[in-house]
Amino acid sequence: EKGVYPHFMLKEIDEQPFVIRRIIQEYEKDGKLQIDQEIVDTVKESDRIYIIAAGTSYNAGLIGKQLLEKIGNKPVEVHIASEFVYNTPIVSKKPLFLFVSQSGETADCRAVLVKIKKLGYKSLTLTNVEGSTLSREADYTLLLHAGPEIAVASTKAYTANIAVLTILSALIGDNMNHEELHHELSIVATVIESICDEKELFDEIAGKYLKDTRNCFYIGRHIDYYVALEAALKLKEISYIQTEGFAAGELKHGTIALIEKGTPVIAVISQDEINLNTRSNVKEVKSRGGNTVVISQKSISQKTDQVIIDDVHPTLTPLVTIVPTQLIAYYAALHRDLDIDKPRNLAKSVTVE
Ligand code: M6R
Repeated sequence: EKGVYPHFMLKEIDEQPFVIRRIIQEYEKDGKLQIDQEIVDTVKESDRIYIIAAGTSYNAGLIGKQLLEKIGNKPVEVHIASEFVYNTPIVSKKPLFLFVSQSGETADCRAVLVKIKKLGYKSLTLTNVEGSTLSREADYTLLLHAGPEIAVASTKAYTANIAVLTILSALIGDNMNHEELHHELSIVATVIESICDEKELFDEIAGKYLKDTRNCFYIGRHIDYYVALEAALKLKEISYIQTEGFAAGELKHGTIALIEKGTPVIAVISQDEINLNTRSNVKEVKSRGGNTVVISQKSISQKTDQVIIDDVHPTLTPLVTIVPTQLIAYYAALHRDLDIDKPRNLAKSVTVE
């Protein structure tokens, strides 16, 4: 039930700190974050992980690749489910297929699962729904414990996916110990909470820049680029504003031609090493009349940034930088008086290919 909330989407955004804490609880055994040893061993023994997913789950998979490679030391490829069936790449010797699906019912993912099972490859499903098709048919399952996600626009499943993949990454590699993992995820929960306490700010940004616009851009570099992709998907699916997520450095290779007076461009800046370069892209956009908004991490922020987020572990920034973009999408759709929980032409789970 929605309770005091006007929409499920807003409720589910607000639930995210709680979901992160529940994931910590659910995966904690004997004072340590743990995952079934057989699953950990299977992932460790594989020579490459193939993440297969669609939509928001695909975008979470892009972050998963960063985590599994940086923290877990495991090579990862991320594939759009509906493309993998036809454009199947050359697969490594000992692959593990990781299906990321909130509903566990996405037909595009199932088609890949059927195909790889015939080839004798191992599979693991990361899902929010126990007993769902992808969970039943894969060799192993990891649960998100996010609670039912009702709004068509996926929010808490995205962060839950990233949190569970963080735990998996820490357990297969040796770059993050148990205390650190627990500590860093707890910080994330607290920081998300403080972002959710700033709703008026996101309402204001959406009202000012997105109420009447026809298009919008999210830009970022490095891990922020993947956040930009998810931020753009969220905004377009519920506000119907044509929105694209771009690698900030690519703007000058074509896209900047689209910037005109008043075009909203929202930059995500969470990493020290890309800070100055992304900021110079923001300046380029501004000098062409674009309306720029910067979402940054405190330690690398500048006074003029509209959204400043407390610092978290550098590889876990997507867990927090995504939240302002979810709220901006929500308020943009609210200002445009749209059906937020049930956007046109969309279904919660897509059971046709
Ligand atoms: O249930 P799944 O995670 O497999 O669903 C995948 C996509 O259909 C889903 O994430 C979709 O993109 C959402 N509407 C995005 O908010």
